Amino acid sequence: MRTETAPIVRLEDYRPSDFLIDSVELDVKLHPTETRVTATLVMRPNPTGRSDAPLVLDGDELNLKSVALDGRILSDEEFEAVPQSLTIPQAPRQPFTLTVETEINPTANTKLMGLYRSGGNYCTQCEAEGFRRITYFLDRPDVLSVYTTRIEADRDEAPVLLGNGNPVENGPVDGSGRHYAVWHDPHPKPSYLFALVGGRLGRVSKTFTTMSGRDVDLAIYVEPGKEDRADYALDALERSMRWDEKAFGREYDLDVFNIVAVSDFNMGAMENKGLNIFNDKYVLASPETATDMDYAHIEAIIAHEYFHNWSGNRITCRDWFQLCLKEGLTVFRDQEFSSDERSRPVHRIAEVKTLRARQFLEDSSPLSHPVRPTQYREINNFYTATVYEKGAEIVRMLKTIIGDEDFRRGMDLYFERCDGTAATVEDFVNAFADVTGRDLSHFARWYEQSGTPRVTVKSHYDVAAQTYRLDFTQSTPPTPGQAKKEPMAIPVVLGLVSHDGSPVNAACDRVNERGVFLFDKPADSITFTGVTSLPVPSLFRGFSAPVRISLDLPNEELLVLLRHDRDAFNRWQAAQTVAMRLLTSLSKEGSLADDTVGAFSSALCSFIDRDAESDPAFAALVMTLPSEADMAQEIGNDVNPDAVHRARTELRRRIGQACRKRMQHFYETLADLGPYSPDAASAGRRSLRNACLDLLTAADPQAGEAFALAQLDSATNMTDRLAALSVLTTIPGPAREEAITRFGERYRNEPLVIDKWFTLQAAIPEDGTLERVKGLMEHPAFSLGNPNRVRSLIGSFAMLNQVQFNRADGAGYQFLASIVLRTDELNPQLAARLLTAFSTWRMMENTRREHAEKALRSIEQKPNLSRDVGDIVSRSLEAGQSK
Ligand code: TRP
Ligand code: ZN
Repeated sequence: MRTETAPIVRLEDYRPSDFLIDSVELDVKLHPTETRVTATLVMRPNPTGRSDAPLVLDGDELNLKSVALDGRILSDEEFEAVPQSLTIPQAPRQPFTLTVETEINPTANTKLMGLYRSGGNYCTQCEAEGFRRITYFLDRPDVLSVYTTRIEADRDEAPVLLGNGNPVENGPVDGSGRHYAVWHDPHPKPSYLFALVGGRLGRVSKTFTTMSGRDVDLAIYVEPGKEDRADYALDALERSMRWDEKAFGREYDLDVFNIVAVSDFNMGAMENKGLNIFNDKYVLASPETATDMDYAHIEAIIAHEYFHNWSGNRITCRDWFQLCLKEGLTVFRDQEFSSDERSRPVHRIAEVKTLRARQFLEDSSPLSHPVRPTQYREINNFYTATVYEKGAEIVRMLKTIIGDEDFRRGMDLYFERCDGTAATVEDFVNAFADVTGRDLSHFARWYEQSGTPRVTVKSHYDVAAQTYRLDFTQSTPPTPGQAKKEPMAIPVVLGLVSHDGSPVNAACDRVNERGVFLFDKPADSITFTGVTSLPVPSLFRGFSAPVRISLDLPNEELLVLLRHDRDAFNRWQAAQTVAMRLLTSLSKEGSLADDTVGAFSSALCSFIDRDAESDPAFAALVMTLPSEADMAQEIGNDVNPDAVHRARTELRRRIGQACRKRMQHFYETLADLGPYSPDAASAGRRSLRNACLDLLTAADPQAGEAFALAQLDSATNMTDRLAALSVLTTIPGPAREEAITRFGERYRNEPLVIDKWFTLQAAIPEDGTLERVKGLMEHPAFSLGNPNRVRSLIGSFAMLNQVQFNRADGAGYQFLASIVLRTDELNPQLAARLLTAFSTWRMMENTRREHAEKALRSIEQKPNLSRDVGDIVSRSLEAGQSK
């Protein structure tokens, strides 16, 4: 099938299912290659569906064994079965029971969707459309059913058998060496939340008592022998559950909550009801194998999946266009959790860095789409930064606009009103409109309009009148499918800061008591009165809206914010803005006057003197310059990645030299004493120390190499060891090669550490890196079938290594294209994700752009592309941004 023929699914075509499935009994007899699935579906016509419609069940690569209606086996004339569907033209008009028997081969399932094997264990992944790879079904999120699952397996092969809901019974299957377990989930759910697991697994557990006093058995299952590496995840789960009770009043609703870690997984984790399945990199952690960042990710993802129990499972999505209803909201909830557990400003900066690096990038690319898309060819391609991250920003803006109390009241109403239903974005927004009496229709445009708005602000100070005016204008560039844009409702949290830090007592009636100005027209002005001296505006505090900001302030005034703003986010932002100005002009002009760099360096030095000690994590963020990818985005077109790389290296060198004494001081005094702890404060000290090491090395590679080699030897944890190795990778020579080799040998049997080792090497910004990456593909630990391995080595090369992926000779592009094609035959989802690395191709200078287009065309022309890759490649190539 040619890829262009894949049908387009449209939001406007939504109609309810013609049939409903009230309950499902699933009997699964696990076998490596011939797993038997018997589904008994209690069905009835949907009163809101069409009354004359045939029954059409979804399937995917299924092998049908038998169909029975109300216990009677159907003859071949009574149904039509193909791998993609099972049709019964004359389905009953009253309740009936359909029994469908299929056979599937989990060992041959390399797509990692449906039932597959990972490390010898059986597991499932059903979101978005994987359940149809297990049995024929109405595989759509608005069909909610009560599931009972009986799992049977060889006792030696799979001593542990897990399903959704609560355990009912288990026992031996007489005289066969097999055993079974029955699970029952009383909460009606869509098929994408179904899961089962069978295998040899180790277990850690504890009891959680909910706010109403019910005991829940929490357990995490991992590869035997790695149980102690699940302790942190278990602790994070307990904290998440407690937090959701306190912050949102949400209590858990089953007797057990199980998490299983698997090593072959397409995404981060999955919120299956009562049985979350995780990519093991987001469960397993020990000081020896995981970095501080790994610990933070584990905490966030454990929380994310747990929070889905209410935002996703109890209230699910009517259709896949509503994906942000669960994902955006749940990301918002996990961000709030992490902010409460750690440092709010530090976490906010991290969120915004990700948002800009991933979502802003996506939004300026040919793949730009609304938070709620209106059409898709392949839904897997819409699990994007826009749906997740921008989706979370919309929820955050709503909270900013209506305030904390009304936000909580609106959430309560939403949970109460929509519990047990498959809901829409409208249902969500209406809950807030109803509790506040506000008209939120203009605000809701954030779900519909794609592209990142640009807000331009000009300031005017009238000394005589003592007034200060801010003129705002906004515009959103055209994006695919949306040539014309409307103004957005943008919450601007703002304040004025004086040059010496003394309070500014100015008034403005357009700014509410929480410091919010709602900017919802193409242009608007606000005026402060009683302004006795020229202030510096602090705009979009806490990054109050996902927009790009153009501000006409000189560097010196921005640096006043770094020193005096009470909003930590904007202090960081001020330094970033100045750094970005220096970086882009250095990249374009090739040189920079000493005094501009000097002014910035000395501002950084005094910042460090004043603040580094008291908030090291924040200081480390301030000292980290925008990345090369950030720079490319800022430059926007005709990007030359070599010039970008040179500019960043040069500015790091000059800042490193200017701040050297302080860096060395912190490097020495912050050395970790005592046992490792992953808490935010300790992690913050390590991050400042390693940021110092990085800048010291930029200023003086020889000295840096010595420090890094010593640190590599003495490190007591993976954070410090990896930081040292990372610094060493920037210094070519035998010391680096030896360090790389030794690290690789030391962690030979730790795939998740080998992933980090792959990533570091793939990111080396030197000409030999492509050869190195190709060489590493031969490493015994590498496998094209394992998403973590592929992403660490090849994904990192394409996404992190700006200079080498975007080589002027096009070899980086050709390489990625060939890997995408090879991967597509095994795992289309993975291939399509890799392919999104091309989303920057249009902003490159001419030669690179031509090479990239050629590589994309070579993919496009390949016959039998998956729908996943076919969709991404054709959208990537579509001419113009406004089609
Ligand atoms: N719902 C999952 C999450 O929040 C996302 C997910 C996991 C997924 N695995 C997937 C989506 C496979 C598509 C395909 O975080
Ligand atoms: Zn999610």
